[in-house]
Amino acid sequence: KNIAIIMGGYSSEYKISLISGNVVYQSLDKTKYNGFRVHIFKEKWVYVNDAETEFPIDKNDFSTIVDGKKINFDCVFNAIHGTPGEDGLMQAYFELLEIPQTSCDYYQAALTFNKRDFLSVLKPYGIKSAVSYYLNKGDVIYADEIVKKVGLPCFVKPNKAGSSFGISKVKTAAELPIAIEVAYQEDNEIIIEAFLDGTEVTVGVIDYKGTITVLPITEIVSENDFFDYEAKYLGKSQEITPARISDEMTKKVGDIAKRAYELLKMKGFSRTEFIIVNDEPFMLEMNTIPGLTPESLIPQQAIAAGISLEELFTNAIELSSQ
Ligand code: DAL
Ligand code: MG
Repeated sequence: KNIAIIMGGYSSEYKISLISGNVVYQSLDKTKYNGFRVHIFKEKWVYVNDAETEFPIDKNDFSTIVDGKKINFDCVFNAIHGTPGEDGLMQAYFELLEIPQTSCDYYQAALTFNKRDFLSVLKPYGIKSAVSYYLNKGDVIYADEIVKKVGLPCFVKPNKAGSSFGISKVKTAAELPIAIEVAYQEDNEIIIEAFLDGTEVTVGVIDYKGTITVLPITEIVSENDFFDYEAKYLGKSQEITPARISDEMTKKVGDIAKRAYELLKMKGFSRTEFIIVNDEPFMLEMNTIPGLTPESLIPQQAIAAGISLEELFTNAIELSSQ
């Protein structure tokens, strides 16, 4: 089987995606699959071989030509964080072309990538999230109204982005405009959330061999003000698997993440973030193309569950669908 591992993307997360994609490429079961690294950048879509030679991708059918021979792909392994890999655009494209892919479907990708919409769809099911305020680029900023609604400190986040790009923890109303400006660098929508003072955990839920499976839960203890980019990728955090929470809480938060996965008819990978405040989990977001770098959490959780990366990726490919 020819597997195209797509990586890169158009957002600030492209460097993380290249690392994730290369981990997938290196861990692929070579007895079963021929892996092809495919870079998706605004300026070019190219297959890149081991000698780093680039071959253009024909967007009409997502094929490439190497030494005069046309190569088609049996499956796409999606390792693009952010747009266009995590927000439904690539998913819709592969659905149209009827090429199986490892990610969830386009609608689920678009919905989960939009923090506000995702959380509001789950709210009627009793899944709690932080009090929030929403802004679109160009909207007047009523700082008093924002502070009245979400309190201080609060988090200003791009509504559709990842890896903590553009996120600020704001302690005074005076800091709001600059934080909002920073978030607008990543997205034209912003979500401002109340600060939740509790234990941060992240829950991987995947379809493993046909069973929706909750992976061992990870607790995040950031040395920084929050789990920011530096904490995520530059070692400024402790990630403890399994999380130091009670068995009851492990079950409770795992069940909520699984319920969200089931309610939304998810497929493939998911990693859902929570802050537990006084025995009550509050959901922050769901990542459908979670990081697969050596520092990332899903690889750590899979290994804690006794699933090797090779098995994890074989499973994703075997379960891939159109
Ligand atoms: N957005 C990053 C890659 C993650 O969720 O792991
Ligand atoms: Mg995220």
